Amino acid sequence: MFLAQLSDMHFRSRGARLYDFIDVNARNAEIINRVNALTERPDAVIVTGDMVNCGEPGEYRLARHILGQLNYPLYVIPGNHDNKALFLDAFSGLCPQLGQDPENMAYAVDEFPVRLLFIDTSVTGASWGHLSDFTLGWLEDRLSRDDKESYVFMHHPPVAFGSAQMDPIACRNGERLLALIERFPQLTRVFCGHVHRMIATQYRQALICSAPSTVHQVPYLHTDPRPYYSLEPGAMMMHNLVPGVGLVTSYHSLANYEGPWLYDPRTSCPGEGC
Ligand SMILES: [Fe+2]
Repeated sequence: MFLAQLSDMHFRSRGARLYDFIDVNARNAEIINRVNALTERPDAVIVTGDMVNCGEPGEYRLARHILGQLNYPLYVIPGNHDNKALFLDAFSGLCPQLGQDPENMAYAVDEFPVRLLFIDTSVTGASWGHLSDFTLGWLEDRLSRDDKESYVFMHHPPVAFGSAQMDPIACRNGERLLALIERFPQLTRVFCGHVHRMIATQYRQALICSAPSTVHQVPYLHTDPRPYYSLEPGAMMMHNLVPGVGLVTSYHSLANYEGPWLYDPRTSCPGEGC
């Protein structure tokens, strides 16, 4: 199993820019082309929420158009910037696992050696996240069925990562997910978005890790709570299930940079044979 995780694409309507100056649509379109061109192709692409910036119909039309060009299966969940109904309407064709109920989006992908569990932590009108009774019951039901190793994908991190800016808008009842991690040892990964930066911590047997945004990032500051953002280059995470080891997660920059080049010993230490 080899998965690409994108997050927080924040599409705008055609011709509009994020914060009036960031051409997020062009950047995301370029990224989708780059993902399509990967020579080592993922089995699926995941987007962990904040698909659009303002929850507007025009934003979803553009996001649907760009993501419709992906040449891989697509698994998506909404974030706090999304409108649940418009999100479902836009992506149910590309990701039919989302179902039909915008208030209760949750689905399992069972075609890999591990089970992927996708849940919605967004709350209409709020920046912070919440696990509904439906979502918690659905998770408990899926985890109770057998002991297949399972990963949860959700927008809001279930713990405070120590970010003065983002901790107040994390998942407010994330301790309910931590209780499931305690009860179910097969739950070994929680992958989220929301914080626009790759940050990792651990609770019991579970790695809890956020993905960067494809376009704009949030500095990781411990004491300054002001709402910063930056154009530190976007990135994605790749999840590679390595036989005999388990899941290995790596960070792939989406910056425009030179290389890669093949290592050539003749130019490394000329004459020294190193
Ligand atoms: Fe976001």
